[in-house]
Amino acid sequence: MRKDTLAITDNRTGKTYEIPIENDTIRATDLRQIKVEPDDFGMMSYDPAYMNTAACTSRITYIDGDKGILEYRGYPIEQLAEQSTYLEVAYLLLYGELPSKERLDWWVYRIRRHTFLHQSLIESIQAFRYDAHPMGILISSVAAMSTLYPEAKNVDDPDIREKQIWRILGMVPTIAAFAYRHRIGRPFNYPDNSLSYTANLLYMMDYMNQRDYEVHPILAKALDILFILHADHEQNCSTSTMRGVGSSRVDPYCALSAATAALYGPLHGGANEAVLRMLQDIGTAANIPRFIERVKKGEARLMGFGHRIYKNYDPRAKIIRQIAHEVFAVTQSNPMLEIAVELERIALQDEYFIARKLYPNVDFYSGLIYQALRFPIEYFPFLFAIPRSVGWLAQWLEMLDDPEQKIARPRQVYLGQRGLNYLPINER
Ligand code: CMC
Repeated sequence: MRKDTLAITDNRTGKTYEIPIENDTIRATDLRQIKVEPDDFGMMSYDPAYMNTAACTSRITYIDGDKGILEYRGYPIEQLAEQSTYLEVAYLLLYGELPSKERLDWWVYRIRRHTFLHQSLIESIQAFRYDAHPMGILISSVAAMSTLYPEAKNVDDPDIREKQIWRILGMVPTIAAFAYRHRIGRPFNYPDNSLSYTANLLYMMDYMNQRDYEVHPILAKALDILFILHADHEQNCSTSTMRGVGSSRVDPYCALSAATAALYGPLHGGANEAVLRMLQDIGTAANIPRFIERVKKGEARLMGFGHRIYKNYDPRAKIIRQIAHEVFAVTQSNPMLEIAVELERIALQDEYFIARKLYPNVDFYSGLIYQALRFPIEYFPFLFAIPRSVGWLAQWLEMLDDPEQKIARPRQVYLGQRGLNYLPINER
């Protein structure tokens, strides 16, 4: 009969241990019984960057990186992108099931009721220098919300949690738009809650008192699909930051501010910005072979390629490639698209990228669309952070309700010196 255990023999002592296997994993704490001397600390696993360590169980997002599959709460991303809306997907991620018509109406109403910013927050956005990077403004503004809604610290109260979620999902797009208008020195447009989530964002960013102003429905829809694709991606760097910081039971604003900071890095949500800068540096399709040679020598990185989990075409990148064409039919085509398509073609045939299973990820084409929508490059990570807020919040709720979770506290393998004697400065 099959036994779901792992037998480990410690060759230092000759002892054998039997460790239970559950969901194809062993519990790292089960290794602690493996000792040479009775007062030893016991065996640990060493896993820098968590390459092979599951830190939680989850029921939110499923990824099969080898097959290129992404599902939210069991629903394939392709179906959601085609048939759903961002706010419906947000509900799905948070509540675990698709809403009824009544629940969806209630949910959309709740978010729309929370789109206006507290005046103090508006003033703090205005206090930033005119050229402040929008992610710096977002990180600070979300943290500042913690001071405006102090009841948020009651993280064990489900009603209080829910209210902060409405506020965050409602206000983050407004912060984005205000940060943008501040940067370009134009007055703020207050939210128009008769519009959809993404149409309202575009309106707040663009509107200049035109009598016949209308958000282009194809562009608002394209942005909505991009938001669906970015809504969650299981335990990545920013999500594990949200869980890790949230595990100290701090309020969700502080945890979300930390997650946003993690997203800002160029290896994570900052990659869409880095892709555009890379394409601009390459300049013309004729320069691509030289650039690829530099990447292979380790002198540059092909931004928007490669993923820790996907070892196949990122399913989000496939959908984004299609949307790019729909958007370019409305806006002008982006001259960088030609370079991107050619770069992808050459890279996918090159042994270096084939051997390392490096394929385009979500960021390879998204920046081209954002640019066609006339977002400045430094806004791209913000357009990742707005929709990802719901993923962070869903994961935060799951963490809080998981009886197995405690404050996050990784172990270390200490390799430094010990037991030194302090020397006064004149004796060193
Ligand atoms: N260009 C060139 N070589 C690469 C790239 C790349 N984009 N990505 C990985 N490699 C090489 C890397 O040098 C290494 O080669 P070798 O084995 O010879 O040392 C090998 O592939 C494995 O790479 P790794 O750095 O060990 O892989 P990782 O899982 O630690 O990194 C990654 C994943 C996403 C950080 C990395 O692929 C990368 O830096 N990509 C570019 C940045 C990017 O597009 N990030 C967005 C990720 S998707 C959105 C998100 O989730 O935030």
